[in-house]
Amino acid sequence: MRRRTFLKAAGGAAGWSLAGPGPVLAADAEIELAPATPGPVISPHLYGHFIEHLGGVIYDGIWVGRNSKIANVDGIRRQFVDDMKRLGAPNLRWPGGCFADGYHWRDGIGRQAERPRTYNYWQRQMPPGADATETNQFGIHEFMRLCRLVGAQPYLAANVGSSTPKEFHDWVSYCNAPAGTVSLAEERASNGDKEPFGVTYWGVGNESWGCGGNMTPAEYAAHYRRFVTQFPGYTRPFLVATGPRGHSADGDIGWTTGFFEAMRGAPPPDGFSIHYYTDLRRTKVKPGDFNAAEWYEVLLRGVRLEKVIEEHWNEIGKFDAAHRTKFVIDEWGVWYAPGSEIKPAYILSQPITLRDAVHTGMAFDIFNRQAGKVAMANVAQTINCIHSLFLADGDQYCRTPAFHVFDMYRPHMGGRMVPVRMQFPELNVPVLEGTARLPGLSSSASIRERRLTLTLTNPSLSDAVAIRVRLAGQSRATEARAAVLTHSDMRATNSFAHPDVVKPETLQVETRSDSVEFRIPRQSVVAVELAI
Ligand code: AHR
Repeated sequence: MRRRTFLKAAGGAAGWSLAGPGPVLAADAEIELAPATPGPVISPHLYGHFIEHLGGVIYDGIWVGRNSKIANVDGIRRQFVDDMKRLGAPNLRWPGGCFADGYHWRDGIGRQAERPRTYNYWQRQMPPGADATETNQFGIHEFMRLCRLVGAQPYLAANVGSSTPKEFHDWVSYCNAPAGTVSLAEERASNGDKEPFGVTYWGVGNESWGCGGNMTPAEYAAHYRRFVTQFPGYTRPFLVATGPRGHSADGDIGWTTGFFEAMRGAPPPDGFSIHYYTDLRRTKVKPGDFNAAEWYEVLLRGVRLEKVIEEHWNEIGKFDAAHRTKFVIDEWGVWYAPGSEIKPAYILSQPITLRDAVHTGMAFDIFNRQAGKVAMANVAQTINCIHSLFLADGDQYCRTPAFHVFDMYRPHMGGRMVPVRMQFPELNVPVLEGTARLPGLSSSASIRERRLTLTLTNPSLSDAVAIRVRLAGQSRATEARAAVLTHSDMRATNSFAHPDVVKPETLQVETRSDSVEFRIPRQSVVAVELAI
């Protein structure tokens, strides 16, 4: 696992540093960036979110109620709103997940006291004695209020599994018909929102191969066509079809082939969803207590996502060489076996450690590198579930290490992807079964208004890496600053009692006339910003 040794420490001031002399690093990795010839735009939507009516996600995590002693805005947890605004959260996917295919949108409108109490799909996974009855206190108006508070675009997952095209189209009209037109627009106004919601992003079902109806690809394609053909055209939609279970052993390529075969002759969807969980549920790997092999196993499974994207992209190309359909990776994250929930009824909640933060950086680097293929990605899920950015229980709240990676990668949002040229050896690492090869560094870069952002992740548990960055052509860095997220303990986490154990620190950077140099510590995520 050992690499070339780091020879001299980086000089230079913390924060922004100016070009000047200083000790020369013996670099382990030489990186070349060509900001003058950037690639596709990195959609801000790659840094998107997902919240579902499940465990403690909506109720308590987000919706605390207007009379709560917890600080709130119209019943929505204020700290959550503030943190999501800080991240510039571009979108929110709701109401599921599996919940979506059992959800009937009318249950969530009208006076809250009069809304029905309904069955929640997740009841089957609740611990004995715990209840998942859906109170419907958080419906489309409350969701849209949240989106407006945060400044996020709504992405609604519609019920295909237990609904009809009519119910879907009515929801679209209720959301998007201009005031004073159809009766559904009047009903929306009578419920407090005269102006249309203008929802662009619509998921047509969720996991239709599983909890969304257990359909074959051909059956789902038939449903998809029926659900979208008469789509009410108030707002030009971005329609997302159910795609594969990307973390299946074979990547679920058969779903993609079958769907696009059955769609021949019909307009292709704008988006094709991929769900990619770094799925440890059938292993002994725990979220909070693990060894080196279990650290690397998670990262190794995480980086396979890039291959999944490329394979499905090539498959779709056989049906549509123009690639009118882009990927929407609307569920991704590290998912461990149950047993570490913040409380038993908050099913699917788990601690998030430095390992998951490093995984987050690697996932974002993949999304950035694949920006021409991926239109959107949504972490599963934003609060109190799987790969959470936040944990909340009543008046207790904390930001996980994953939150900080979202914050550090924010400058990539809306930038243009800059290819990273780097020669760096793979690591030979222990994993659950023997050893495996893992990329020695993960990276991506982007440029926006003369600000060049380079993000790097060092998965090694043992070695720091000395980096020298050169800019191709006439480009010169005049200033540089960098942040690093790391900890001496690979298991480090943030908790209600200790919320700031893992948080970004300033990283020293040396800016020279022809290069920028710094040292990326072991087990860390680094974001470097250069003014050019
Ligand atoms: O995110 C939790 C669940 O994982 C979602 O409801 C479902 O779509 C997926 O299987």
